[in-house]
Amino acid sequence: MPLPHGDLEVGRQRLYFHSSEAMPELGNGSVDVIVTSPPYNRGKRYHPLYSDLLPETEYRGLLLRIFRECHRVLAPEGAFFLNIGDAAGDQGKSERVVGWAQEAGFVRVQTLVWVKSLLGKGHFTPSGRGRSFSNLFEYVFLLAKGRRPRLDVKAVGIPYADKSNIGRYSEVDLRDAGNVWFVPYNETTGARVKKGHEAPFPVELPWRALRCVPRAARALDPFAGTGATLRACEALGMEGVGYEPYPQVEVIRRRLASPFTPPPTLLLPELERSLRVLGDLLPKVPASEIEGLKARQRRDLRTAEALLRVLGGGGPPER
Ligand SMILES: C[S@@+](CC[C@H](N)C(=O)[O-])C[C@H]1O[C@@H](n2cnc3c(N)ncnc32)[C@H](O)[C@@H]1O
Repeated sequence: MPLPHGDLEVGRQRLYFHSSEAMPELGNGSVDVIVTSPPYNRGKRYHPLYSDLLPETEYRGLLLRIFRECHRVLAPEGAFFLNIGDAAGDQGKSERVVGWAQEAGFVRVQTLVWVKSLLGKGHFTPSGRGRSFSNLFEYVFLLAKGRRPRLDVKAVGIPYADKSNIGRYSEVDLRDAGNVWFVPYNETTGARVKKGHEAPFPVELPWRALRCVPRAARALDPFAGTGATLRACEALGMEGVGYEPYPQVEVIRRRLASPFTPPPTLLLPELERSLRVLGDLLPKVPASEIEGLKARQRRDLRTAEALLRVLGGGGPPER
């Protein structure tokens, strides 16, 4: 039984606490991008009132109704990133779910792979039970309404390993990082540490997807959970709309207020660019001037140390 309606507004983010089977708050074609992850129907405990073990026909009916609403509200050239994974003992569900999205009218553009853990970095829940390997990745299906959405793949690009390739395809030292995204969780679920929800994705996952859609102003997560997509929207200065009929309001508030720093690998191109600008500038400062600056710095430091001694402040200032 769903909880009574209500909503929550934090910054540019708005959450409606009712089912996304109907999204009357959103007009036709009014969102630029959808990033979401539906219930997995695998017995996860999102909320005491929600059963995540529906008969397959009911599960399909629920997702079909929501995907049809998503199709109505997405802009004609909008992008839909649909995340879902298979557990080791529950293979093939992802394919059925993306099939229902296609049944609702979406066109399948590409399959991306989200790697959650690699060589011990990141977190995954052991699921093989001695009969298969644990599942370390999930899918992110990129869907469209018709025309393939325009993407800025270099917005989450990486620098060229071989710099001779700069200028071959573009003037900047940035290349497409491809359709395998390694996005490990920062926090893990251990015997004592819990994430507060059964299946949140790391904020970096929706952040990457949203960052790739140029000029997107408004995003939707029809299965908002903890509000990870909306946290990513806020980080990018975008308006976000989420739906969650079984909210854990305090968990959502905490998520929306949590710090988020884009990953250093993605900042690296910016860093490289800045260093290059600095490198270009430095030779223009005459060497004699740099030596003069260093000498002045040493003198100032000595003066400060002497002053501290006179004032009884003890040793040299911390550097
Ligand atoms: C896999 S979780 C999404 C987690 C989210 N990506 C995050 O990072 O926190 C799926 C969510 O869908 C919610 N849900 C279940 N039925 C729903 C419905 N009819 N409309 C909207 N959301 C629903 C569940 O309560 C659950 O929080």
